[in-house]
Amino acid sequence: MTRYRVAVLPGDGIGPEVTAEAVRVLQAAAELHGFTVETADYAVGAAGVAEAGDALPPATAAAVTQADAVLLGAVGHPSLAAAEGRRRPEAGLLALRKLLGAYANLRPVTVHPALRHASPIRPDRLEGVDLLIVRELLGGLYYGQPRGREADTAVNTMRYSVSEIERVARVAFEAARGRRRHVTSVDKANVLEVSGLWRDTVARVAGDYPDVRLEHLYVDYAAMRLVAQPAAVDVLLTENLFGDILSDEAAVLTGSLGLLPSASIGDGPGLFEPVHGSAPDIAGRGVANPLGAIASAGLLLRHGLNQPEAADAVDRAVVSALEAGLRTQDLARPGEATVGTRELGERVAALVLQGVSV
Ligand code: IPM
Ligand code: MN
Repeated sequence: MTRYRVAVLPGDGIGPEVTAEAVRVLQAAAELHGFTVETADYAVGAAGVAEAGDALPPATAAAVTQADAVLLGAVGHPSLAAAEGRRRPEAGLLALRKLLGAYANLRPVTVHPALRHASPIRPDRLEGVDLLIVRELLGGLYYGQPRGREADTAVNTMRYSVSEIERVARVAFEAARGRRRHVTSVDKANVLEVSGLWRDTVARVAGDYPDVRLEHLYVDYAAMRLVAQPAAVDVLLTENLFGDILSDEAAVLTGSLGLLPSASIGDGPGLFEPVHGSAPDIAGRGVANPLGAIASAGLLLRHGLNQPEAADAVDRAVVSALEAGLRTQDLARPGEATVGTRELGERVAALVLQGVSV
């Protein structure tokens, strides 16, 4: 039987709660499709600082590079918000992405019909929304040197090379081929040098994909397009910080940030994590929405382990759980019954094993 090794990094806040449910569903899909997934937990973020004084402890770093794929919960803790260096939980995540060479971050955004009411956007505008954000993940202001703070000045550097832009652009064009063949590249070329290079490079890569339509948008206008005409976006390709901001904005379309999964792929094992953060305000109460983490396990099956049928089974189970009216508190209407994190995870796992079809 095929065996895979998945490193599980639950992290902080609601991370452990939602990851436990993602693993439950992952195991159900493996059972149904006849392969084995061995999981082992490792610390990251504030949990890493508590365990080893490092947001990416050496033992975690060693384990992830040996794994077939990495499943992560969330990082971040209020007590470490002002910590320095590798004691910052977020620094652990950035170091992890770099270590794995995970340069392309895929964030699919779909609106489930049963949840249209949960979005503040008018329901008619949500008709047909199915978009994929491809966010560059290893460059730009997140990593650019020099960076630092001195007296009353601080500096960050937005830096990109042609090869960094090219490789993520190819991911976006390839993805578009399996979708509606439309790439919207987002930059700020009317102001930033980096965006000029971005635009030229993406346009050149587009030459290799004559069957895919390319448009360029400035990021301010793209922000408006995402809420005014979200169905007009297929693949949205952009740099690191713009992608961070626009993906939270796009999450509003779905009704809850708790629903969104992501896949970070590149040179090494893929990293799969929900888009949401550690949500310290609701951590430990068993009320967090596990569907973003569960859908991330679906992406792990699809892109990390190359098990598309098992991935389809997870996606179908998530849809039928929502159709059955199962709602965590973030999605419930006033007076509507809610389920907790664990109950929802168990129900989705059961639906996977039943092999539900939609
Ligand atoms: C995300 C998060 C991270 C990011 C933080 C936690 C460093 O917001 O994955 O979107 O900014 O990339
Ligand atoms: Mn973010």
